[in-house]
Amino acid sequence: MHSQPAIFALGDAAYIYLEFALLPSIEPRTLIETVANIHEPRTTVGGVNFAVGVRPSLWRALAPDATPADARDFDRPYVGPDGFTMPATQCDLWLYLSGATYDIVWESARGAIAALRKVATLATDIDGWSYRHSRDLTGFEDGTENPSLMEAPDVALVAAGEPGEGASILLFQKWRHEETWEALSTQQQELVMGRTKAKSIEFPEDRMPGDSHVSRAKDIVNGEERDIFRRNTPYGNVREFGTVFVGFSAQQSRLDRMLMRMAGIEGGIRDALTRYTTPLTGAYYVIPSITALMRFATETGSG
Ligand code: HEM
Repeated sequence: MHSQPAIFALGDAAYIYLEFALLPSIEPRTLIETVANIHEPRTTVGGVNFAVGVRPSLWRALAPDATPADARDFDRPYVGPDGFTMPATQCDLWLYLSGATYDIVWESARGAIAALRKVATLATDIDGWSYRHSRDLTGFEDGTENPSLMEAPDVALVAAGEPGEGASILLFQKWRHEETWEALSTQQQELVMGRTKAKSIEFPEDRMPGDSHVSRAKDIVNGEERDIFRRNTPYGNVREFGTVFVGFSAQQSRLDRMLMRMAGIEGGIRDALTRYTTPLTGAYYVIPSITALMRFATETGSG
């Protein structure tokens, strides 16, 4: 069982994220067959990384044995006790393209949109880019606590022998950053994050604010921290900008609990970061194993 390698392809500078809505007249199977037949790009020198995600309920109906047990759609918003809301904007298909330069990623994305034109409409598109190596647009390093590439498959992929083996569950959210963030001092920003800005060192327990992002985003079950693999990127321009949250997990419950803790639904404390950033979209996708996805390919892909 092979997983989709783009989940783990690091170091790219240019990203395009696309979400599609199935046309009402088209069978879901036709959408998956069409996407399974996209074999571009083929070059491996300066190539493009490509990943496919599918609405959990749509994928489950077509390939129940290849669907992670707890995968479900982002079909209702997360609403905290104070009314803070993370909206639900679930689409049917998610494509991810990344590469060394924007031109090659753009060209592949245009190709994918053309290949899907008869079966789906483009609902959202986001250009992502890298900023100061691994920082997000808050200026903090993003991904410090990520598992290494050696550990990431265990964190991000459903284990062998389980339903959906080799698949991953993605949480995809667009978060706009507010200008109020820039009005904070570095010290205030560090209290919001729970880490130092320059070196990304976590605050010791006795100085860690209970509403810091690091405190709220941790998923601890029976004393054990349950990791996810985050591949966030900055997006936007000088007027509107933020973070594309791209988090892969072997279980959806980890992502779900993180969102519930950030919103204050669980634990009653809202993540301070959500006072300076606004979630604009929210969707879950199954990233099927290549093996399961290619069962739907009807062309050979050679040539
Ligand atoms: C505006 C959106 C977000 C920004 C700018 C952001 C940024 C950060 C930063 C700077 C860190 C500290 C360094 C690191 O370990 O990566 C962090 C940690 C983390 N974030 Fe976020 N994040 C955002 C949203 C989210 C969301 C939506 C989730 C989960 C659903 C999440 C989950 C985590 C986790 C699990 C950690 C590591 C906590 C730990 O074990 O120390 N983040 N994030």
